[in-house]
Amino acid sequence: MYSWLSLLTILIYSHVIVKAQTPVVLWHGMGDDCCNPDSMGRITDLIKQHVPGIFVHSVKIGDSENSDRNAGFFGVIDNQVDYACEQLATIPELANGFNAVGFSQGGLFMRAYVERCNQPQVRHLVTFGSPHGGVSDIPNCENIHDFKCTLMRTMVKRGVYTDYVQHHVIQAQYFKSPSDYEAYLEHNIFLPRLNNQIESKYQNTTYRDNLASLESFVMIKFADDTMIKPPESAWFWTLDQDNEIWPLKDQVIYQDDLLGLQLLDHDAKLKFMTCPGSHMQISDDYFVNQVIQPLLSSTGDQNKVNGPGIRFVNQQA
Ligand SMILES: *[C@@H]1O[C@H](CO)[C@@H](O)[C@H](O)[C@H]1NC(C)=O
Repeated sequence: MYSWLSLLTILIYSHVIVKAQTPVVLWHGMGDDCCNPDSMGRITDLIKQHVPGIFVHSVKIGDSENSDRNAGFFGVIDNQVDYACEQLATIPELANGFNAVGFSQGGLFMRAYVERCNQPQVRHLVTFGSPHGGVSDIPNCENIHDFKCTLMRTMVKRGVYTDYVQHHVIQAQYFKSPSDYEAYLEHNIFLPRLNNQIESKYQNTTYRDNLASLESFVMIKFADDTMIKPPESAWFWTLDQDNEIWPLKDQVIYQDDLLGLQLLDHDAKLKFMTCPGSHMQISDDYFVNQVIQPLLSSTGDQNKVNGPGIRFVNQQA
């Protein structure tokens, strides 16, 4: 009798404990792929080390690592986000929601996932050096022997706002010319819509509602970023036509709350952080202390977990 009861208890516990550890989804940046052991692999290992048993998925566009890496330079962001929406919706471990960490442009795409799909729902969204406010310059290639990257930069020279480049080059789709805001609004096929910066009749309130539904949106800027220009784009800051930097709170996006950022901010759910170092140089210490401990490990998040079963187990932990 007693052993049946303890077996039952173990079963209930193990079932709920698995549920309590919110899974994590990663989205890599430009020049990288889903499964590189030095980048997303390292982050995955780090998370698993600190949160035993956690489920981690790394977004892969296409059916190989090579196609995924290629997709970081070429294609249409909207299509890739749709692809990710379908991919994430089919993974049973994610069905009750997940925490999302996006790196560089992958953080921008992860935000697009939240705004446009968010089924399953994202709880905490963390972005590292992501060009939320667009870039005033196409990112340089870290490695000049990276053929795909140099090809990308060559293609952009045809004219960043031409229809051809907009429909073929990823980086062009988050280019925001400081000197020509009208051209950006009219010809950029991605960022103005994602940021609800278009004419009000075309703005989409679902984007705002979905983003506002996050438990937190943590935007991390790299202290010495030379890849994303301006580096403060990681906080939605942007350059105006005089090359002056515009903080988020001075922008219409925030003031008219086109994206729910003001709402998040008022609930202390919007975080502006700075990671020491250059673009994508994230130390294990930083990632563990600023991301894993406070956000990704279930014990760090006790009172925000939904559902009585999960709360019950968290009290045991
Ligand atoms: C707004 O976005 C949602 C989510 O992507 C979409 O289902 C809906 O059709 C969009 N609404 C309009 C008016 O475009």
